[in-house]
Amino acid sequence: MSFAATVLTLFPEMFPGPLGTSLAGSALARGDWSLRAYDIRNHGLGRHRAVDDTPAGGGAGMVLRADVLAAAIDAVSPAGDARPRLLMSPRGRPLAQSRVRELAAGPGAVIVCGRFEGVDERVIAGRGLEEVSIGDYVLSGGEIAAMIVLDACVRLLPGVMGKTASGEEESFENDLLEYPHYTKPRDWEGGGIPEVLLSGDHARIARWRRAEAERLTRERRPDLMRKRENSENGA
Ligand code: ADE
Repeated sequence: MSFAATVLTLFPEMFPGPLGTSLAGSALARGDWSLRAYDIRNHGLGRHRAVDDTPAGGGAGMVLRADVLAAAIDAVSPAGDARPRLLMSPRGRPLAQSRVRELAAGPGAVIVCGRFEGVDERVIAGRGLEEVSIGDYVLSGGEIAAMIVLDACVRLLPGVMGKTASGEEESFENDLLEYPHYTKPRDWEGGGIPEVLLSGDHARIARWRRAEAERLTRERRPDLMRKRENSENGA
């Protein structure tokens, strides 16, 4: 069974967008995953198909109505749908490779893209939405965030990336940033390639790469380094 993605959005024309090209696009064409972009406005109310209204208690912006969004979710993901339901939101738990791995191993995802100031709080619990953030900054809507989640999942699907090894060694799979890479030419603008990489000594190369990955992680992501040290201590 392949990974089935359904995205609920007010801008279905944004999809597949970049997901229709490159690795994700070829996988989509092969049927390794499926993508349905569903227009929340199909469930809009009245002549203007209204989907949002002013926030209770006053304040700026508009809020997606609970009834409209719930009707849209129910139309594409009836009770019994085993797929997790995500709500893209800067308020959510930050996306990490561990969650991406879980999602990619499952049946797919139903992803709600927020717009306006937010969505009516009641629909989050009422439809079991898991709020997911892609980082501590605010986008104008959840669509690009949803694409990021899907791109990260799709590349992990069986057969999508040529060499699975390249997926296992890369950044975050072991809470380390990736070591530096080099290729031709051997001398370029006065810079050479570290001698160890030309030595043919695979054990030495592996040690060097490991040390470089740890150095970069310590320098750039002390938070990741602490996380590694804590899990090594069994904490
Ligand atoms: N929508 C707006 N900003 C977002 C973010 N940082 N992550 C996920 N969804 C968002």
